[in-house]
Amino acid sequence: MTQNVIEMRDITKQFGDFVANDHIKLNLRKGEIHALLGENGAGKSTLMNMLAGLLEPTSGEIFVNGQAVTIDSPSKSSQLGIGMVHQHFMLVEAFTVTENIILGNEVLKKGVLNLKKASQDIKELSEQYHLSVDPDAKISDISVGAQQRVEILKTLYRGADILIFDEPTAVLTPSEIKELMAIMKKLTKEGKSIILITHKLDEIRAVADRVTVIRRGKSIETVEVAGTTSQDLAEMMVGRSVSFKTEKKPAQPQGVILSIENLVVDENRGIPAVKGLSLEARGGEIIGIAGIDGNGQTELVEAITGLRKVKSGKLEIKGKDATKLSARQITELSVGHVPEDRHRDGLVLDMTLAENMALQTYYKKPLSQQGILNYNKINEYGRKLMGEFDIRGANELVAAKGFSGGNQQKAIIAREVDRDPDLLIVSQPTRGLDVGAIEYIHKRLIEERDKGKAVLLVSFELDEILNLSDRIAVIYDGKIQGIVDPERTNKQELGMLMAGEEIKGEKVNV
Ligand SMILES: Nc1ncnc2c1ncn2[C@@H]1O[C@H](COP(=O)(O)OP(=O)(O)OP(=O)(O)O)[C@@H](O)[C@H]1O
Ligand SMILES: [Mg+2]
Repeated sequence: MTQNVIEMRDITKQFGDFVANDHIKLNLRKGEIHALLGENGAGKSTLMNMLAGLLEPTSGEIFVNGQAVTIDSPSKSSQLGIGMVHQHFMLVEAFTVTENIILGNEVLKKGVLNLKKASQDIKELSEQYHLSVDPDAKISDISVGAQQRVEILKTLYRGADILIFDEPTAVLTPSEIKELMAIMKKLTKEGKSIILITHKLDEIRAVADRVTVIRRGKSIETVEVAGTTSQDLAEMMVGRSVSFKTEKKPAQPQGVILSIENLVVDENRGIPAVKGLSLEARGGEIIGIAGIDGNGQTELVEAITGLRKVKSGKLEIKGKDATKLSARQITELSVGHVPEDRHRDGLVLDMTLAENMALQTYYKKPLSQQGILNYNKINEYGRKLMGEFDIRGANELVAAKGFSGGNQQKAIIAREVDRDPDLLIVSQPTRGLDVGAIEYIHKRLIEERDKGKAVLLVSFELDEILNLSDRIAVIYDGKIQGIVDPERTNKQELGMLMAGEEIKGEKVNV
């Protein structure tokens, strides 16, 4: 018989009256990659947090290597050989990579922290697993993808045998995902066992041995992955068939809404990241920005939304000079923004969901009157958005951090789309969303376009870019490398442009 390294029996977890996990069964075999699949809010992270020692079950039993255990703290979990890479990073922004990795596990030498040794160990580990990070960089200065790599290194550094990855690929680029998949395979060959949470069905099919599906807190079934199609998996998860292709009419582009001319923007360390970029977005079109992470897309979006200073060049929104405006002033020009990092820039986690929904408009009628907040209206508005965008959770009065990752993302999109902005800038909008939610969000973005709005879509998902965009601008090294027609291009050609190669002919600069 195959050995179970983890067995969860009849696990139930309640938050107040809300049942997040309802008698869930899950077992992990030694050396397997076991995928956990379920809609946003189904209860996956909650279940895993009980293995990580962050939550305790209301009822049910957990066995690790055949022994009944109580995992009442993260250090207990770590002692049992369990390591979790969390959906939302648990890193200290002001610390370096090395400091974060050794935090709570410091190598003391005569009472002195041996940072140099740790930094060297981490460098070796990162080379061994192709997880490139700079051990001495500060967390606040590195990309989201690099932060994820730090989280992975952290569990490896502690020598965990049972690894839990909670949506590790949501923030990675396609080539990083490939690498991670190879790393996971390698880890299981070495005898480690992995639980992988992902919404990307092709990833499950590529690496997982078995998959357990949970729906609204209940485990539905566990099946072998071999022989199942993405359609099968989607249906098991959502309980209905899901369309993977977005229907849309041809675009009817109108006047220019956003005009960017020769823009130069520095990154955090004062080096230009956007290097003389020009681009126009018209009403009635979705313009997709494709590119490899770190080619200036983050800084570009931050500059357009007033979150980062423009060094030189010009930004115009609806004919108004917006080069020097503040974030609030830009919002007031009818600009909506779904940021790439939902925790850093999107939500105030300790505020209620309803308050978060009012973040951009609370100072206006009807949410406040003569400077006084009208909480009835704010809460009513939060409830309305929860219904309309299918944001699942207990209710609108729960703090944002009490919502699942995907539902937090849906909430930000709801807030920004519902304001009906003339220019909607969305960065990685469907990151962490389940297939059903993606289908819905894509429909809403196309609806905005059809209403004559300009939509700027920044995404690492080439399928998303190809499916939604009316024009695709490829960004490379801080500039637009070429603009192509999605109907007449393919992933290969995009890949070439993204790598800085030139493509000649009529396809470019449509
Ligand atoms: N601390 C909490 N207080 C109240 N409700 C909570 C809390 N933590 C989680 N929940 C609720 O439990 C449910 C399950 O959340 P969980 O984060 O496990 O979902 P998930 O399957 O990981 O979803 P996603 O794919 O979006 O990450 C959600 O509806 C969430 O709102
Ligand atoms: Mg989750």
